[in-house]
Amino acid sequence: MLDALNAPIAPRAVRRADYRAPEWQVPRIALDFDLDPAATRVRAVLEVERSGDHNAPLQLDGDGLEPLSITVDGQPAEWQATDRGIAIALTGERHRVETEVLIHPERNTQLMGLYASGGLLCTQCEAEGFRRITYFPDRPDVLTRYSVRMSADKARFPVLLANGDPVGAGDLDGGRHFAEWDDPFPKPCYLFALVAGDLVANRDTFVTRSGRAVELGIWVRSPDLAKTDHALAALKTSMRWDEDVYGREYDLDVFNIVAVDDFNFGAMENKGLNIFNSRYILADPDTATDYDYDAVAAVVAHEYFHNWSGNRVTCRDWFQLSLKEGFTVYRDQSFSADQGSAAVKRIEDVRSLRAAQFPEDAGPLAHPVRPDAYLEISNFYTATIYNKGAEVIRMMATILGPEKFRAGSDLYFDRHDGTAATVEDFVCAMEDAGGVDLSQFRLWYSQAGTPRVSARLEHEVGSGRAHLYLRQTVPPTPGQPAKDPMVLPLRLKLFGSETASALGTEQLVLLKDGEAEVAFETVTEPPVLSINRGFSAPVIVETDRSAAELAFLSAHDDDPFARYEAMQQLMLDTLVAAVRHGRADHAPVVEAVRNTLTDPNLDPAFVAEAVLLPSDSFIGDQLAVVDPEAIYQAREALRGELGRTLADHWRTAYEGAQDDRFEYSPAAKGRRRVRTVSLGYIAASGAADASSLAFRQFEAADNMSDRQGALTTLVNSADDEAREAALDIFYNRYAGNALVLDKWFSTQALSSRPETLARVVELSHHRDFTLANPNRARSLVGAFSVNQRAFNAADGAGYRFVADQLIALDKLNPQTAAKLVPPLGRWRRFDEGRAKLMRAELERIMRTPGLSKDMAEQVGKSLD
Ligand code: ARG
Ligand code: ZN
Repeated sequence: MLDALNAPIAPRAVRRADYRAPEWQVPRIALDFDLDPAATRVRAVLEVERSGDHNAPLQLDGDGLEPLSITVDGQPAEWQATDRGIAIALTGERHRVETEVLIHPERNTQLMGLYASGGLLCTQCEAEGFRRITYFPDRPDVLTRYSVRMSADKARFPVLLANGDPVGAGDLDGGRHFAEWDDPFPKPCYLFALVAGDLVANRDTFVTRSGRAVELGIWVRSPDLAKTDHALAALKTSMRWDEDVYGREYDLDVFNIVAVDDFNFGAMENKGLNIFNSRYILADPDTATDYDYDAVAAVVAHEYFHNWSGNRVTCRDWFQLSLKEGFTVYRDQSFSADQGSAAVKRIEDVRSLRAAQFPEDAGPLAHPVRPDAYLEISNFYTATIYNKGAEVIRMMATILGPEKFRAGSDLYFDRHDGTAATVEDFVCAMEDAGGVDLSQFRLWYSQAGTPRVSARLEHEVGSGRAHLYLRQTVPPTPGQPAKDPMVLPLRLKLFGSETASALGTEQLVLLKDGEAEVAFETVTEPPVLSINRGFSAPVIVETDRSAAELAFLSAHDDDPFARYEAMQQLMLDTLVAAVRHGRADHAPVVEAVRNTLTDPNLDPAFVAEAVLLPSDSFIGDQLAVVDPEAIYQAREALRGELGRTLADHWRTAYEGAQDDRFEYSPAAKGRRRVRTVSLGYIAASGAADASSLAFRQFEAADNMSDRQGALTTLVNSADDEAREAALDIFYNRYAGNALVLDKWFSTQALSSRPETLARVVELSHHRDFTLANPNRARSLVGAFSVNQRAFNAADGAGYRFVADQLIALDKLNPQTAAKLVPPLGRWRRFDEGRAKLMRAELERIMRTPGLSKDMAEQVGKSLD
């Protein structure tokens, strides 16, 4: 009996099929916060309303709250503690439920609910953090009007922000003051936010197209104020873009963003008060790379776009998460594509899909874009929900075409404004506005796994006819052994190998069956197939195209993505052959890279992407059994060959891309990228002056892209003296700048040097290392665990290090720890020796007393 009680309670799965509408609604809440980092008192007055004909008690979620009083209509309430909060039996249709609880922000290391970060108090409620602030039905289909009062010490917390519009403020006794905020838009509690602290704002005004003046503020600690101009500019550009492209206007008088240093992920779209990880707000040339600048703009846009896709129309339940996230990622991707090179943006988005989502979809944590069950919803903020979800929206946009897609989004917003909707609602709006039947297309939401398409093109020389034979398969995934064929929109085109010109126009083929045939007429010369142009479907395409055909496309295709893709495939085929046979013919890759590098008509930013070899992990994904050392050697050999054979071209590109002064423009960004990529190849060639060249770039740099690019080259180099000197200079220059020190940690954790593991273990004891800050934890542990060579050391020391860190991190911050589990879960992809070592570490984590539900789900599934 005792044993049974002491055994950990197996967490119960939440299932989509069990959805029931809420029995009680909460049309209004008044919150009163007596803020103090050590102990904050939260008073909540809920107007509750029975929904439907039932006798069920009011169920309020609560997690870690210390109740001080609970009353119903002014009388002490009869309430029961439940496994997830409290239950109160109520007799009438409407009641006034008042609770008072104590919470402890300073002790909140999970960073969910109300917590302290660098002297601030701030909140994070999505997905289920509000229950750590007060008793409430913590589910997204309960929509409530909020009024909020906060009081706090005026000297420590001069600024008090919450959702909606400010309606009152004043001084109180004892050096305290208060502020009142009112949000007129009913919202789910996951969008609640408040911030208290000593902050300054970069302010501006935005006038919406119907003439509403909106006061904008980006709030940071005063030393960071100079780093907020880029985010503010991005915010205004996003607001205009959403009006122009989606017809969506902002709806409150103020829009505030606050940057905080301790944050579990990127940012949060709380109504009128976005809270951001400071890494996605702060940017200046000295501390942020071009990549960081782009990420700041993309995340600012993403959170802003949520005001419609997420807030005005929210999710009925967490299984619908991709309704807001997939759509909003698609919107931010389109926004970024419009700000610079659309081709380069597409290449980057596909690269990250392949780096994060494809492996997820092929492994033990695979799940559909609309999952069917979860233990812990935090584990489902995944590349599948976000990035595959965005690809699914993109395919609908491709199938409908731009006008009908816009009509569909208008209809969706129109129908569902002010409500909590489902993925099904979105698809119905697209069907109704587009006049299309998406029944089969819906499989993209229910079937996991990356479809594979094989394409074989046959040409009859005499008749001028060609036939394309297409076949699709969808692999089995956990819980889904057999799959139906999906709708795959494939943009394709043929090119004549003799004239290098297009044979006809591009077609959009919707592959719906397991097999299909496409016929082409008047194919007067041997054709070359360009398929899945623009990555029109998120699938793996297998063709029998030769190295010569791929090289041809890399030079002549008129779709920049397809051109990049042909080059990648050529590189991948070469590298896979090299890993399998110990050697491969490098010549076709070398010639194709030479062509791209010397083509004067190409955008430098595109060139820099196109000449990069596929990553170690993407090469590994093509192999039945991953051999990290063989992959590293094959890749280095090809890099060396490219570096040596094209030595003069890299030098020319390197020198030609030099600017006198930093400028932030797409063209200047492209030149910086070419410079760092060229430097990498010069180093790979083994040139005697490589490290002095890198060191010179490192010292002369007037921006972080050049400086970090050079540092990365030095950190991978065998020149001990130059490497250690650069690391010291970098560290001292940026002492005290947390975001840049994260780069110092991650650059070392990603190094291909043989001593990386030892270095990383040493860094885990560095005085600047802490697991309590998620950015810092990720910069060392997260970066190391994607370093294929070091993490997969044959003796298992890399696995052991990561497992040790995860066990320690889980005690502080389960959500962030659980996100770092997937690399250990890839054991099926490796040889028996490594697989055994990885499993042993997963089992060790699983046996840890007090393991969180977050970790238990991720590790448990990884072992299955
Ligand atoms: N909604 C936020 C965004 O995508 C992210 C929230 C992440 N929440 C979580 N529990 N991981 O902008
Ligand atoms: Zn989002």
